Amino acid sequence: MLNVPSQSFPAPSSQQRVSSEGRSKVPLKPGRSLMDWIRMTKSGKDLTGLKGRLIEVTEEELKKHNKKDDCWICIRGCVYNVSPYMEYHPGGEDELMRAAGSDGTDLFDQVHRWVNYESMLKECLIGRMAVKPTVPKGMLPKSQVTDTLAKEGPISPSYDWFQTASLVTIVIYTKQKDLKLDSVIVDHQYDSFRAETIIKDYSYLIHIELSHEIQEDFSVRVIQNVGKIEIALKKKENTSWECLGRPLENHNSFVPKKDAGLYYRKCQLISKEDVTHDTKLFCLMLPPGTHLQVPTGQHVYLKLTITGTEIVKPYTPVSDSLLPEFKEPGFPDNRYIYFLIKIYPAGLFTPELDQLQIGDLVSVSSPEGSFKIPQELEDLFLLAAGTGFTPMVKILNYALINMSSLRFDVEFVLSAPTSEWKGKKEHISPGLLSEFLKRSSDKSRVLICICGPTPFTEQGIRILHDLNFSKDEIHSFTA
Ligand SMILES: Cc1cc2nc3c(=O)[nH]c(=O)nc-3n(C[C@H](O)[C@H](O)[C@H](O)COP(=O)(O)OP(=O)(O)OC[C@H]3O[C@@H](n4cnc5c(N)ncnc54)[C@H](O)[C@@H]3O)c2cc1C
Ligand code: HEM
Repeated sequence: MLNVPSQSFPAPSSQQRVSSEGRSKVPLKPGRSLMDWIRMTKSGKDLTGLKGRLIEVTEEELKKHNKKDDCWICIRGCVYNVSPYMEYHPGGEDELMRAAGSDGTDLFDQVHRWVNYESMLKECLIGRMAVKPTVPKGMLPKSQVTDTLAKEGPISPSYDWFQTASLVTIVIYTKQKDLKLDSVIVDHQYDSFRAETIIKDYSYLIHIELSHEIQEDFSVRVIQNVGKIEIALKKKENTSWECLGRPLENHNSFVPKKDAGLYYRKCQLISKEDVTHDTKLFCLMLPPGTHLQVPTGQHVYLKLTITGTEIVKPYTPVSDSLLPEFKEPGFPDNRYIYFLIKIYPAGLFTPELDQLQIGDLVSVSSPEGSFKIPQELEDLFLLAAGTGFTPMVKILNYALINMSSLRFDVEFVLSAPTSEWKGKKEHISPGLLSEFLKRSSDKSRVLICICGPTPFTEQGIRILHDLNFSKDEIHSFTA
C-alpha cells in the first residue's frame, strides 16, 4: 500500500476532489465553505429577489439571466437563482456559468448527480419552467420505452406475479443471463413496494402500493440461467389477492441508470469502532424491508440533515473482515453495511457522522459505480493511499476467495514516517511502481486498481501508462 503525507490530504487535492472527467474542486475564498452557505440560506436574506414568491419561467426569460450577478439555472424543471451561490460552488464559478440561463440538468448530472441541490438551493428557487406538452423522462408508456431502448440498450424486462395461500411471488423476466443477487434492490416501506433491477447501465423499476399487507421478511432469488428474479412476499392474511396493487411513480419504467433518481432508505447506526487515531469503522443496519447488497468496488451516498440542509457524501462500504479479531464473528451478511471513514475535524459531514449515537438513523442510497471485476485475471495490483484503501478491501476479499494460483504480497510505503519506520519511505514514483508491478507473464491479463488523493491517482495513472499498461488494464475510483 502506498501512502502520502497527511497534510496534503484532502485539501485541496483529496480523493473526493477527483471527478470522473478529471475536473476538480477549486480553492474557495475564506468564509465560502458549504457550512457558510448553509448559514447564508438560513440568514433570512431574500436570495431570489422575489420576496418568497414563485413564478413560472419561460425559456425566453431563463435565457436573459445568464450573467454572474444575474444567473438562473434550470435543473429538472425547477429554476434557481445561483448568483448568491457562485462564490460557494466547490467546482468554481466558471463551471456553474456553463449552465447560465439554460437547462443545466445534463451538465449537472454528468458531474455530480448525487449532490443534493434541491435542499441546498431551496432558498434560491425562482419557480418552475412553463410546461411545454412533453412526456417526462422515465414516465414513457412501456411500448415507447422498449422502442427507444431497443436500438442502443438491453431489451426491456417485464414482470408478472402469482400467489399461493400464503405467498405472493413477483417474477421479473430480465432476458439477461449474467444477473447476480446484487443486481436487485428491494425496499418495502409503509405502503410502497419498490424493486429496482440493474441491467447493464439501465434501471428497471417495479413500484407499487400493494393491495394487501405483507410480513416484514421476504426472499429474493435470482435464477441466473434464465435471467429471472423471484421476490416471494409472505401474506399477512391468507386471503386471495385480486390484484397486486396500485402503480406508483415510474412503475414499470426502464431507463438509463443515470436518469433514475437516487433512492435512499434510513439505516440505523449499530456500532462505531476506532481503527486509527482519526479513522473509524461504522456499522449500519438496513431496515427490515430492504434487500440491498453493494457490489464490490461500488460506493453509496450517505445523507444527513445538517442544520436543516440535506448533505450527501460518497463512501465505499468495506467488509466485516475489518472488525477486530477478538470480537464475536461479524453480524450475519446482508443486513449490515460497514464503512471505514476518516473524520476531518474541520470537515462538514464526518464530524456530524461521528456525533451520531448508536441507534441514530442515516440515509443510505442505492449503490453507484462502474467497477466490474473481470472474470479471467492473472495479475491484480491494488494501489491505495489514505481512505483510498476502502474500495480495495472488498476487491482483496474477492480475489483471495476467487482467484486461483494466488500469490499475495503487500508493500507498505510511507511518505512521512517516524524514525522507527524500517520500511520504504517515498511518494509514488516510476521506480516504485516498476519495482512492484510486474506481469507474471508477457500475455497475463492484468488489472490495476488505483484510489487516493488526486495527485496520487493522476500521477499513478501517468506512470502506469509510461510502464506500458493499457487504459483497459487500469481502473481509478471516482464519484
Ligand atoms: C467515490 C468516493 C468514495 C469515497 N469513499 C470514502 C470512504 O470509504 N471513506 C472515507 O473516509 N472517505 C471516502 N470518500 C471521501 C468522502 O466522500 C468525503 O469527501 C470525506 O469524508 C470528507 O467529508 P467532510 O464533509 O467531512 O469534509 P469536507 O467538508 O469535505 O472537508 C475535508 C477537509 O478539507 C478541508 N476543505 C474543505 N474544502 C476546502 C477548500 N475549498 N479549500 C481548502 N480546504 C478545504 C476541510 O477543512 C477539511 O479539513 C470517498 C469519496 C469518493 C469520491
Ligand atoms: C449545472 C452546472 C454545474 C457544473 C458544470 C458543476 C461542476 C462542478 C465541478 C466540476 C465540480 C468539482 C468536481 C467534483 O467535485 O466532482 C463541482 C463540485 C460541486 N458542485 Fe457543482 N456544478 C454545477 C452545478 C452545481 C449546483 C447547482 C450545485 C448545488 C447547489 C453544485 C454543487 C456542487 C458541490 C456540493 C460540489 C462538491 C462535490 C464534492 O463534495 O465532491 N454544483 N461542480
